[in-house]
Amino acid sequence: MAVGNLKRTHYCGDVSTKDIDREVVLFGWVQNWRDHGGVIFIDLKDREGIVQIVFDPSVDKEIHQMASKLRSQYCIGIKGTVRHRPEGTVNPNLKTGEVEVVAHTLKIFSECDNLPFPVEEYVNVNEEIRLKYRYLDLRKPHMQRNLIIRSKAAFAARKYLNEQGFIELETPVLTKSTPEGARDFLVPSRLSPGKFYALPQSPQLFKQLLMVSGFDKYYQITKCFRDEDLRADRQPEFTQIDLEMSFVEEDDVIEVTEGIIASVFKETIGIDVKPPFKRITYKEAIERFGSDKPDMRFELELKKLTDIVANTSFKVFKDVVDKGGIVYGLNARGCIDFSRKEIDDLTKLVAVYGAKGLAWIKVKANNELQSPIVKFFSQGEINAILERLDAKAGDLLFFMADTPKVVFDSLGALRLEIARKLNLINDDEFNFVWVVDFPLFEWNEDENRWEAMHHPFTSPKEEDLEFLETDPAKVRARAYDITLNGVEIGGGSIRIHRSDIQQRMFRALGISDEQAKIKFGFLIEALKYGAPPHGGLAIGFDRLVALILKEKSIREVIAFPKTQKGVCMLTDAPSEVDPKQLDELSIKLKKIKKG
Ligand code: AMO
Ligand code: AMP
Repeated sequence: MAVGNLKRTHYCGDVSTKDIDREVVLFGWVQNWRDHGGVIFIDLKDREGIVQIVFDPSVDKEIHQMASKLRSQYCIGIKGTVRHRPEGTVNPNLKTGEVEVVAHTLKIFSECDNLPFPVEEYVNVNEEIRLKYRYLDLRKPHMQRNLIIRSKAAFAARKYLNEQGFIELETPVLTKSTPEGARDFLVPSRLSPGKFYALPQSPQLFKQLLMVSGFDKYYQITKCFRDEDLRADRQPEFTQIDLEMSFVEEDDVIEVTEGIIASVFKETIGIDVKPPFKRITYKEAIERFGSDKPDMRFELELKKLTDIVANTSFKVFKDVVDKGGIVYGLNARGCIDFSRKEIDDLTKLVAVYGAKGLAWIKVKANNELQSPIVKFFSQGEINAILERLDAKAGDLLFFMADTPKVVFDSLGALRLEIARKLNLINDDEFNFVWVVDFPLFEWNEDENRWEAMHHPFTSPKEEDLEFLETDPAKVRARAYDITLNGVEIGGGSIRIHRSDIQQRMFRALGISDEQAKIKFGFLIEALKYGAPPHGGLAIGFDRLVALILKEKSIREVIAFPKTQKGVCMLTDAPSEVDPKQLDELSIKLKKIKKG
């Protein structure tokens, strides 16, 4: 590492008392600048940390003069001698706090304009401004740490997978649609006018083809592209640790995934997570926690009450049950003091999930009940409800009657909100849960048809195969998701490796043989040439790193992320293009009303 006659000897953060009296060469950015009675002190920072530099006129007048021009974030190089800081000036909070470097050579590489925001430490700055000047935002120690940890995580995963005999292979980015449930990003082809490539939503089909080729164990740390509504944990392009294995069953893939996760935690933050992780079926996750990614760091479980209230005179509940709906309850233990306003706010929260109301009962001392709905129930019903919810004096009981989807989504969200309000969540815990035995299909209300819950290449359970055509709701998938603290960090399945079953699956999804041939003909055909049984999984790498670092948004662990609207603030992408470029692509734009 050299610039002219300056050859770096240390990173700033690595200078220590071992280097006393040694000459060092350092490169970095000026953090702080102070003139103490003629002697100038600066903090010099690079990615490994900070060290104090001293410019003393009695050491070198000319250099001292030059140093007086230094300002925040100038990029410089220095040569100097390491010494102990004088007594009383040692900074125990700094790794290099016992030493300082007395500079006798200074080279200013670049000056720095007025900064749009300070980069020395954490300051609350609007995220759009941060993203517009992302290269400065990334100079912050916090962001440097995040990306360095991200790099370590990728390295740990690669190392583990290589040791397990996996081969890293690349798959195309300009390709054909792979259905993972989102919209595709399309790329027009110049050479085939009117035709489009799709950016891959995942390498799913290619990794399966690599199994047909006999590579046996594949992985790739790769970008995936999905045009979907963005949230804190979703980006239009994101990274997966993607893997596929031949001659395996669920447990084999689960074991490898646990191995990757354990290595990543160890090599990044030194924590031993202890596989095997808990497993829970999809059905149990939904019925107990109202979610297929249950946060099991705390209890607060939902309880089924449908049977108890099936013949109640409370019309709201009765009507729901008569229409095939369900009634569930949740005991917010000790929450009797929630105010009307707090309960109203929770009612608004569940309304977002389609809930038409949120009934409640407060259990006072002597089992006296306060509630807008108790009057509608018989004593027998009340007793059974209190018993089912294990109600005690001081508890606040919530009730919801609706379709299963509304009840579970609402109470699942309510459960999380109450846990937050009551501080039941231990932020230091890493709670992994495998969710297994997913249904193969889910019903799409809007389009009135069955959809694959994971993707259409997921194998049904052998024993459920007979219901594929007759009772799709009953068919379970050989699919598994790994969740961490209530976030889905990965998912995968054992695949269909027989082309006749793959064709039955397409038919069950309402995809005609002809359409299947156009879209996935190459896969159906490949499965006819000695395809091995195979399965795999993909870890959402951005989410995993964000959770390791306890970041709320995956944007904090991505160097150049996009905003919620899918815009890159730095480059202004997406942007208009030259009419000539459109011409070459045989594309004509329609006028779109802005509004
Ligand atoms: P799936 O669609 O579940 O599976 O994706 C795997 C994991 O990727 C993460 N993820 C995302 N992260 C950030 N932004 C997004 N928009 C986004 N979408 C998904 C999630 C998710 O668990 N081909 C299959 C895997 C397989 O079957 O092997 C697949 O892509 O953490
Ligand atoms: P109402 O008789 O409509 O005033 O409702 C009495 C109570 O039941 C109110 O607290 C409502 O919030 C609640 N409620 C109404 N519909 C439902 C529902 N589908 N599930 C749970 N509670 C409901």
